[in-house]
Amino acid sequence: MTTDRTRPLLPRQPVRWHTGGPGGARRLINRLRARVAEQQRLEAHRLLEADMRGLWREACTGVGLCQYISAAAGLTVRTPRFGGLRLTPTGTSFTVELMPGGEPTDIEAHALRLAHSLGFAGLRVQPMAGRWVRVVLFDADPLASTFALPHAVTGRADDPILLGRREDGALVEHALASPGHVAVQGQNGSGKSQLSYGLLAQLAAAGDVVIAGSDITGLLLGRAWNGTAHRPWQITGSKDLAAHAAHLDRLVGWMDDRLETMPPRVDNIAPTVQTPLVLVVLEEFPGLLRAAQAKDRKLAERITSAVLRLLSEGRKAAFRVLMLAQRFEANAVGGGYARDQFAVRLSFRVPAESLAMLHGDDARRLGPEHANTEPGIAYLSAPGEDCVRLRAPYVGGYGAFCDRIARDGRRAA
Ligand SMILES: Nc1ncnc2c1ncn2[C@@H]1O[C@H](COP(=O)(O)OP(=O)(O)O)[C@@H](O)[C@H]1O
Ligand SMILES: [Mg+2]
Repeated sequence: MTTDRTRPLLPRQPVRWHTGGPGGARRLINRLRARVAEQQRLEAHRLLEADMRGLWREACTGVGLCQYISAAAGLTVRTPRFGGLRLTPTGTSFTVELMPGGEPTDIEAHALRLAHSLGFAGLRVQPMAGRWVRVVLFDADPLASTFALPHAVTGRADDPILLGRREDGALVEHALASPGHVAVQGQNGSGKSQLSYGLLAQLAAAGDVVIAGSDITGLLLGRAWNGTAHRPWQITGSKDLAAHAAHLDRLVGWMDDRLETMPPRVDNIAPTVQTPLVLVVLEEFPGLLRAAQAKDRKLAERITSAVLRLLSEGRKAAFRVLMLAQRFEANAVGGGYARDQFAVRLSFRVPAESLAMLHGDDARRLGPEHANTEPGIAYLSAPGEDCVRLRAPYVGGYGAFCDRIARDGRRAA
């Protein structure tokens, strides 16, 4: 007789359904661990956010960025409202709602003090929708350390070249082929030449760029360029000022030839190897004008009118001017009209008055601080870049510049 009881029992199967098979238990534990870690992260984020909110409120009150409101319970302080904190691998930022009547510039005006109170080196304000802005914090001041120019050259006029590094560490670039002349001002020893060494070193190899111009100091142009295709288009020295005038006239003649032979239905020459972009460098231009004026008024007028023509008509003919001066006073650079032709404007250390002169009244509030800034730090106004502070790349001195030109400078065909 057989019964169910005597039937051999099936081997016991491991219970799998709730863990999802072999290795399932481990996966489950890992999931739980990840969830706990995420909860801990959120909790830490909340604590940090609460901390920052309190610090922000105190910092705003401390610098006077607040409104006092009289309520039944007494006087209360209102500060720009802290929204949410965002932590990403690239940095820390938070949102802020402006106070009634407030503007982003109110925060910018106290940027350094507010950032220091929060334990950071600096901050930048980015407008968002409506009354909200994003305050981006910087751990370290990228302007404080030297920024070496990488060993790179551009091959074409429409490749961007490096102008500098912004306060938030982002690189600022400019393609020479984009329309616009470049103005650089700064007191003696503020970094104009170093910036120019960097710009020209990056451009020296480009097949569709000619680096021409006038340099009474003979350092930026001249000797360093011997043996390159650019040298015949450069004039240096302060002995023969008439030669500078004649040379600038020659460049204007070249521009006129291009304007006359412009193909039909074209109002703008794109740089090519056959019709290269001509960068007319005018190092210490007010010095050239002053020296010419002292010698012969007519000579100075001739120089001024040549430069005015390059500035006003050059853009269409692929001519760009890079003018360097200690300050861009109208009468030192050929008049207010000449000054208005520059789309890209850089100011190294200059008196507050000169900063406002080149960058407009909005820059006035930046004046006192910038008047004492270190060499190599400049304010930039350019299309799409509204008065940003940057550090110019450092080539490594005059010797290093000469080495780069000797190595990279385009040779005559
Ligand atoms: N971008 C920079 N980074 C670091 N140091 C700089 C920079 N620019 C200038 N310097 C320092 O300042 C000095 C003077 O700079 P320079 O360009 O010759 O001034 P400028 O032409 O305005 O008279 C340089 O020798 C260098 O020591
Ligand atoms: Mg100089």
